[in-house]
Amino acid sequence: MAQIVATKMASDRFLMATLFVLALVISSSEAATKSRFRKLKETNLVFYMHDYATGRNATVLNIAGPANHFDILKFGTMVAIDDKLTEAYDWDSPQVGRARGVYANSAVEGNDLYLSMSLVFTNREYNGSTLQIQGSDRFFIKYRELSVMSGTGKFRMARGFAILETMLLDLPTLNAILRCNVTVFHN
Ligand SMILES: *[C@@H]1O[C@H](CO)[C@@H](O)[C@H](O)[C@H]1NC(C)=O
Ligand SMILES: *[C@@H]1O[C@H](CO)[C@@H](O)[C@H](O)[C@H]1NC(C)=O
Ligand SMILES: *[C@@H]1O[C@H](CO)[C@@H](O)[C@H](O)[C@H]1NC(C)=O
Repeated sequence: MAQIVATKMASDRFLMATLFVLALVISSSEAATKSRFRKLKETNLVFYMHDYATGRNATVLNIAGPANHFDILKFGTMVAIDDKLTEAYDWDSPQVGRARGVYANSAVEGNDLYLSMSLVFTNREYNGSTLQIQGSDRFFIKYRELSVMSGTGKFRMARGFAILETMLLDLPTLNAILRCNVTVFHN
């Protein structure tokens, strides 16, 4: 009986020691995560994206559609883009880069674009650096949030989010201007 009690106490002590070590491991890995994020820089960017499907400045190209019928407002259509990014709303304001990638209408109701693009910066400050944007672009909502998955150059190891805001949406021509507010944490 005495021996059983002693064993029980020993195993309780062992359990407590294990829990203590476990707690230390968890708190030190939390501290490591926090300090890793503290060291990251935060950068906020605001620019305008000219997403024109028609007209002489068009940079949106149909690449796929159900039965080769291209309608980006309908489920299943996919386009490639090389959209101009500018400092201000005006097309002729200084270019900061291009948004290159694809989006596909991925909602059966037609109201959501799955978007995957690289922001390729060409302005003096971020020339040659890129950010990778991905997510659900519910374009009928004025503000929607997409993920910043990663980046290169000055944006290595980037993580963050991008708020897209529709400034202009002309459905007959399928031309749009979006304001992009991007917040990224990076090395
Ligand atoms: C198209 O590009 C030209 C030349 O840069 C510019 O003057 C014009 O305003 C642009 N059109 C639109 C609709 O932005
Ligand atoms: C960006 O880099 C390219 C290639 O290195 C260079 O040709 C161009 O002049 C640079 N642009 C700016 C604005 O610094
Ligand atoms: C985006 O940035 C602009 C300029 O700083 C600001 O006026 C606007 O409110 C921001 N929009 C969002 C959705 O945060």
